[in-house]
Amino acid sequence: MDKLAIRGGKALEGSIQISGSKNASLPIAVAAGILGASESRIHNVPNLQDIHTLMGVLRHLGVEIEYADGTLHVGASPRLSVEAPYDLVRRMRASVYVLGPLLARFGRARVSFPGGCAIGARPVDLHLRGMEALGASIRIEHGYILAEADRLRGARFNLEGPRGASVGATANTLMAAVLAEGHTEIECAAMEPEIADLADFLTQMGAKIDGAGTPVISVEGVSKLRGTEYKAPPDRIEAASYLAAGAITRGNVRILGAERKHMGAVLGKLTEADIWIDWTGNDAQVTVPNGIRSVDVETATYPGFPTDAQAQYMALMCLAEGRCEIAENIFTERFMHALELQRMGAQIAVTGSRAVVTGVESLTGAPVMASDLRAGMALVLAGLAAKGETVVSRVYHIDRGYERIEEKLAAVGADIRRIRE
Ligand code: UD1
Repeated sequence: MDKLAIRGGKALEGSIQISGSKNASLPIAVAAGILGASESRIHNVPNLQDIHTLMGVLRHLGVEIEYADGTLHVGASPRLSVEAPYDLVRRMRASVYVLGPLLARFGRARVSFPGGCAIGARPVDLHLRGMEALGASIRIEHGYILAEADRLRGARFNLEGPRGASVGATANTLMAAVLAEGHTEIECAAMEPEIADLADFLTQMGAKIDGAGTPVISVEGVSKLRGTEYKAPPDRIEAASYLAAGAITRGNVRILGAERKHMGAVLGKLTEADIWIDWTGNDAQVTVPNGIRSVDVETATYPGFPTDAQAQYMALMCLAEGRCEIAENIFTERFMHALELQRMGAQIAVTGSRAVVTGVESLTGAPVMASDLRAGMALVLAGLAAKGETVVSRVYHIDRGYERIEEKLAAVGADIRRIRE
């Protein structure tokens, strides 16, 4: 298991190119592989472990899929296996995305029930609610979801869960509805940009979709979809993370190729915290002329502040002036990074789904452990600013979502190296 060793305290300076979005690429690759009756090519796909894990799942189903130079080449498959086994699904929850498209195209899917993970319980009841509304019969057997339907029928259903809309359930049911017979209306749909991208991709394949990016998505079912060519959008969470890297080191970093309009809530909070961000087209320059102010935040579904940027924001607040409250409303147990940050000298008090962070003058390097992808990035950020050496273990979590992280950070002057084990 690799580790990252970081010697902190250097102000980062220079440019970082933002990679393609992982969370947009995953459902698009699934749609291409399972729903397309001809070949697709998807460009700007990041070279990440999660992408390779998904390729493994699709290959297991019989999809011909190759990755080279940022492009996924996805073959057309007239017949596929409809079973996604535990051994593959447990590695990445997004594997459950294959359920809706397999069911829509082949009338049957048997997909392992994904487990929980380090950020807390992650049920799939909303995914199943949507499939049932589309006419599927669902059984849970031996740890598997068995879904069957001769032909899905369009329906009107509501995907509101206890925490609001679900990105995964929206993507999964949308990929089922595009081949269902008749009209579907998904209410309380997730509005995340990744859903709008999936809908754009499906539309290019021949689907008829209206309203993606709003709370109500309408779909007119079609009988067949063709392959197409697409470019994944920039990763808005990676962009937010590198803005935080520039800010936490009081550096002068330019991030290249970001999508400003997808980052409103993050940019709003950073600006309130007196972090300066100047845009030229799709590039953003981050500087901290006056010091960072503590500002409360609460995570919410899009267009609110993303839960995927909460850990990185907490790292930043550890070194801000004053005290703030961070409320995690999406994955309420997602505070594992707080304990590790405390080991570096941060002052954080967690009560349930809330954390109060009191800024300190400095952090000190320590051996710490990444518990999930974004928590891992928070520890890297803290390490970049801390005095002395920080060694982050379980880097495989970070590799799931950050392409060439040590290379990108070293290029802007960070003292960071990977210890291979
Ligand atoms: C996706 C993202 C993840 C991000 C999350 C929230 C991908 C691959 N992953 O995950 O990075 O943190 O959105 O923005 O894009 N819920 C239910 N029942 C369900 C499904 C979800 O109650 O059937 C709850 C979840 O427990 C959570 C909330 O809904 O509290 C949002 O989860 P969801 O949007 O589904 O997250 P994912 O799609 O798993």
